Amino acid sequence: MFQFLMRGDEQINVLRELHAVEVAAEAIYRRQIWRVSGDLKEALVHAAENEKTHKDSLRKRIEELGGKPHFTRYPMYVAGSIMGFVASIFGMWAMMMSNIMFETQAVFDYNGFVRSVKLESESKELLKRFIQDEKDHITAWESFLWEENIELKTSPRIAAKAVAEA
Ligand SMILES: [Fe+2]
Ligand SMILES: [Fe+2]
Repeated sequence: MFQFLMRGDEQINVLRELHAVEVAAEAIYRRQIWRVSGDLKEALVHAAENEKTHKDSLRKRIEELGGKPHFTRYPMYVAGSIMGFVASIFGMWAMMMSNIMFETQAVFDYNGFVRSVKLESESKELLKRFIQDEKDHITAWESFLWEENIELKTSPRIAAKAVAEA
């Protein structure tokens, strides 16, 4: 996505790009938590924590290889926060559909990198593990999409509080 902005080691650049994507993923889920309760809230918290482990593992790997995370993580954080919050305002369908689309794109990107880029095996194993996690997220959001008993919170006060705490 941002490779035109990146120079230097191809392998580190791939990991930096994916790190920025994981930053966005975590932000998306954190901005949706305020809107729901019960099982879906638990699933969103769990997914956000899982994305955080992806983000942290990538950062660790980048640093081990002698690199630093790319500045695009900041705009990606803002983009993810906006995306997650806007979807949460529109409700259940918008949240789950946008999450499924985002995760599907992530799986597509990860698969592409695992196949095409000459990553060393440790990074490749990392990406393969992430692919399975992202697929699990897709399965979770698909199952909630058809769940009828999910109540949404709509209080603007709750929303304002969620944004302030984030
Ligand atoms: Fe992830
Ligand atoms: Fe994910």
